[in-house]
Amino acid sequence: MAIIEKLHVARFRNLNDQYLEPNKNINLVLGSNGQGKTNFIESIYYLGHNRSFKTKNIKDVIPFDEELVQINAIIDGEKITLNKSKHKSTILVGDEKISSNSLLSQRLPTQIISPDRGFVVGGTPKLKRSYLDWGVFHDNKEILKTYKSYNKTLKNINAILAGKNQNQLDEWLSQLSFLSVEISQARTNYIQKLVKILEESSLQKLESFIESTKNLEFKLQTGWTKDVDGLNQNEIITYLQNNKDSFIRTKHLGHGPHRATVDFYLNKKNEGFLSRGEQKKLSIVFWMLQVLVLAKENSDPVVLIDDISSELDQKKINSILDFLTNLNIQIFITDIGNKELPLDPKKTNIYHIKKGIIVSA
Ligand SMILES: Nc1ncnc2c1ncn2[C@@H]1O[C@H](COP(=O)(O)OP(=O)(O)OP(=O)(O)O)[C@@H](O)[C@H]1O
Ligand SMILES: [Mg+2]
Repeated sequence: MAIIEKLHVARFRNLNDQYLEPNKNINLVLGSNGQGKTNFIESIYYLGHNRSFKTKNIKDVIPFDEELVQINAIIDGEKITLNKSKHKSTILVGDEKISSNSLLSQRLPTQIISPDRGFVVGGTPKLKRSYLDWGVFHDNKEILKTYKSYNKTLKNINAILAGKNQNQLDEWLSQLSFLSVEISQARTNYIQKLVKILEESSLQKLESFIESTKNLEFKLQTGWTKDVDGLNQNEIITYLQNNKDSFIRTKHLGHGPHRATVDFYLNKKNEGFLSRGEQKKLSIVFWMLQVLVLAKENSDPVVLIDDISSELDQKKINSILDFLTNLNIQIFITDIGNKELPLDPKKTNIYHIKKGIIVSA
């Protein structure tokens, strides 16, 4: 259960140095264009990931005329501190320094819905992997070691393929095939969980998004060629052995879990044939399923929704808010403020943001 009890954004983009005591349910931040709504959402995401969803460059998020980013919060009774400059990043949980971003994201798992990040259905394989692996990781924390070993192994293989001496290639390929099956298996298990939840009734609240959940399908492409069973290590080894020369020629391994993706289908129609609006709706269903899987296991993420009314019509906003409010998780929503949002005043804090200054309404 992740709840931000206090938030102190000291230095982040245009945001003023300020404290907030958010509601444990809904927090609505209203403001006109360019006031800092996305920056605010991004600052919470940043605290949970030690990176942005908008930029790779730390310079972009450091306030103009400043040297560092500084955000801290009390999350589930524990203080989390993030200080980051161009050269140094310090993360503290309580008084203890931690060196891994994954420990940070365990304290503050966030699910983000933002036009700046893009929609998963119809999105790039990279974006899809990122959402998928977010779920896989929160569902099965042990898998992180496997991902790390896989990336290291892949790096070694690519270095060998680009070099002159291929002596150790076979050993590394065999190692890669083993790790690859573990990753594909974890992703498959996770997708099965999503499908199971999709079949359950709790999604009825989202009926304005999708007429019948039966019509929605997700298929994992493991990243290997279509004729290779990604869950079968022998098939992978045979494929790797048979195609070694071609990898040496191209100097890299272009297949494997690092190229995996999820294909979405609605009424058997591939996502590529769906309209932008349909893609958007299905993306939201997918994200809500991800939230639901974690909520069922009592590790509720904090949901961040940027610019809610530019993305959704009134009926969909209502059903998404109804759905999330019922899950009793913490939500931060930003909006320009031109639509009536059906929020329970007892469960909601409303703020206004102007030139980076956030005040309670
Ligand atoms: N590193 C930075 N330091 C100071 N200000 C910044 C920094 N990066 C961005 N800004 C400013 O922050 C302002 C607000 O940006 P933000 O994207 O949060 O607005 P917004 O409220 O989401 O607007 P919109 O409704 O158009 O989406 C911009 O005017 C931008 O110039
Ligand atoms: Mg914005």
